[in-house]
Amino acid sequence: MDLIGVTGVPGNVGTPLVAELLARGARVRVLARRPDHARQVLGDVLGEGALAGVEFGHLDFGNRRTYVAAFRGVRRLFVTRPPQLSQVGRDMIPALDVALGAGVEQMALLSLQGVERLRFVPHAKLEAYMQESGARYTFLRPSFFLQNLTTTHLPELQRGEIYVPAGGGRTSFVDVRDVAEAGAVVLTEGGHENRAYELTGSESLTYGEVAAHFSAVTGRPIRYADPSPLAFYRHLRARGVAPGQILVMEAIYGVARLGLAGRVTPDLARLLGRSPRTVDDFARDHADLIRGEGA
Ligand SMILES: NC(=O)c1ccc[n+]([C@@H]2O[C@H](COP(=O)([O-])OP(=O)(O)OC[C@H]3O[C@@H](n4cnc5c(N)ncnc54)[C@H](OP(=O)(O)O)[C@@H]3O)[C@@H](O)[C@H]2O)c1
Repeated sequence: MDLIGVTGVPGNVGTPLVAELLARGARVRVLARRPDHARQVLGDVLGEGALAGVEFGHLDFGNRRTYVAAFRGVRRLFVTRPPQLSQVGRDMIPALDVALGAGVEQMALLSLQGVERLRFVPHAKLEAYMQESGARYTFLRPSFFLQNLTTTHLPELQRGEIYVPAGGGRTSFVDVRDVAEAGAVVLTEGGHENRAYELTGSESLTYGEVAAHFSAVTGRPIRYADPSPLAFYRHLRARGVAPGQILVMEAIYGVARLGLAGRVTPDLARLLGRSPRTVDDFARDHADLIRGEGA
């Protein structure tokens, strides 16, 4: 059985992906910047017992000395671009070169919806690299993660507001657990080589509608604040978020505001053999957190 290397652990997609791969009986090596931390987080989520056969390797894209040992023996690789790495030609491609030299034959990339129109984003460069690499590749191009609302935007959500500058634009929100399951499918089943999948939820909602769903499911009134881009910038700066990170978010919510984030595709349902999780499913599973009662 091929050894599957997973980057992006712990992370939104990487953590549930490891769970999905283990559930399919796959051999997994977690390739983490902080292996001990990754092991601890996975142990908390999956239970220590579930990690018995999992290997933990040290991979820091910023440290070339970690590459060779990390990829030795790996045949399939899940690639996450850490959000803070924008110069992928410098920061990631040298590691992928080593991975190919070490015998990686298949790569699945966590890419981005609309990447084919956004040639300047780092994911586009990674896709082009993989297409030229000679390895089999699968591009997973998800829409906006629902989990952003319970991570990046949790402080405001727990005060009863969805605080993003997206106007009345629609977004085809996707749950990272479904993205992870899709990753496990393409890495463990045949027929997905050299393909791209646009992973969206099965509906496209405004943030006002999401707030209404959250309110109905959790019983706690949640409103959509729809701040101006400037108010959003000031608010997140006051919270200590880095300017560059806020500007990336402004761009993402600007795309939504223009009505360009709402495209729904059947790709995810086809890969999973079931409908993707809905906003209501997400709200039910995170109700305590949304109400401010969970960790
Ligand atoms: N958020 C969205 O709505 C959305 C939608 C579509 C696509 N995406 C794409 O999804 C990707 C992010 O995935 P995610 O949200 O699952 O990731 P994430 O939760 O932000 O986790 C990032 C992971 O990268 C690791 N990492 C950071 N620096 C590293 C380095 N130098 N070397 C090795 N690993 C490093 C982190 O490890 P540490 O914990 O040790 O730092 C962490 O495990 C991005 O490329 C983003 O553009 C996001």
